[in-house]
Amino acid sequence: MRIISKAKGPLRGEITAEADKSISHRAVIFPALARGESVVRNFLLAADTMSSYSCMKQLGVQIIRDGSLLRVQGKGIEGLQEPVDVLNCGNSGTTMRLLTGLLSARPFFSVLSGDASLNNRPMKRIINPLSSMGAKISARRQGNFPPLAVNGRNLHGIDYALPVASAQVKSALLLAALTADGETSITEPHKSRDHTERMLEAMGARIKHEGLQIIVSPDANLTPQEFIVPGDISSAAFFMVAAALVPGSELIIKGVGINPTRSGIIDVLIQMGCNIKIENKQIISGEPVADLIISGSELKAVEISGDIIPRLIDELPVIAVAMAGASGTSVVHDAQELRVKETDRIKAITSELKKMGISAEATEDGFIIEGRSGTIKGAQVNSHGDHRIAMSLAVAALLAEGETSISNPQAVDISFPGFWQEMVRLSR
Ligand code: S3P
Repeated sequence: MRIISKAKGPLRGEITAEADKSISHRAVIFPALARGESVVRNFLLAADTMSSYSCMKQLGVQIIRDGSLLRVQGKGIEGLQEPVDVLNCGNSGTTMRLLTGLLSARPFFSVLSGDASLNNRPMKRIINPLSSMGAKISARRQGNFPPLAVNGRNLHGIDYALPVASAQVKSALLLAALTADGETSITEPHKSRDHTERMLEAMGARIKHEGLQIIVSPDANLTPQEFIVPGDISSAAFFMVAAALVPGSELIIKGVGINPTRSGIIDVLIQMGCNIKIENKQIISGEPVADLIISGSELKAVEISGDIIPRLIDELPVIAVAMAGASGTSVVHDAQELRVKETDRIKAITSELKKMGISAEATEDGFIIEGRSGTIKGAQVNSHGDHRIAMSLAVAALLAEGETSISNPQAVDISFPGFWQEMVRLSR
């Protein structure tokens, strides 16, 4: 249980964003596919990324770790070894989906499993296209849910149009395509995060882009790299919204990744009337990074849907909190993917915010929030074991009269283990 009280005053000062989770997963998986040593700096030390780290070790990859610095000794794709035990992906959809793509094309047997949440997340979205490439994957409940049993073999390229934008599905197919016979073409309906393409291209993968289409040619010679992981905009988002909502705040968040496929929250907060300055822009390891300066402002309602959704999908729970503190009725559409994240995030965030007196209505593909429709009051709320719900509720608690107690607060360890400490420090 964590108790959070209303913010006593403005949030001020400087923080460094927690390392990016999506890039950290990739930074421990991809170097294993090259021959030689890659160095990874600022690797995220959190439960999710440690799942990828442990699975790679189980696949026979030697990784030397000194704090957040990794030295990954790649032996080429052919160097991966059959794991002797089940690969435990924990809570991490990224670990499971990326590794399934990779292992479908390796000549050995592997089983991937996760916690109760992950073993209830749909996998047909990767199993169907991988099967068209020739993969043999078995799964529970009509072949949709983990554990997954993968009988790896030679695959062939396909031409595939994703029904929903998903970086995990795109990445699984890109990894399978690296050693397939022939080219693979992948087309998304909207652009999802592109870290996989950026990193594999830097390593020498043969990838071409044509609008929303990506074409991969196999058998490239992948070379080791130095990857410096930037700050995670998805973790910074909680403090961005907190600073936007608490009057008089001015918060500097250093070293945040502002890749355009991830930065939808900046656009939305600016549209809501928030003052955000973007300074010290630079490119680090092929990713745009900057310092963000966020000042508290009077926010107004916003409607979001369409192309922007994949650019802020993980931030929608905390955007719901921003909407609760904004004047007017805000609406989110086209975000049905939220229902198949670590929890059904549409249901989880609306039901918990309601307990705090916020007018929040779940819809099929999003939610409707009437901002400032009454007093936001402290309540007993539940994270549902979902890291992003826990942190979003903590931000809502800063606005609420009285105390809010959040159960299952340790869920934050999945992506942001230092969250509670940072929260206490900034709201003191
Ligand atoms: C991720 C992709 C996103 C995101 C998830 C991490 C990734 O999911 O929600 O938290 O690292 O590739 P999609 O596969 O739905 O894009």
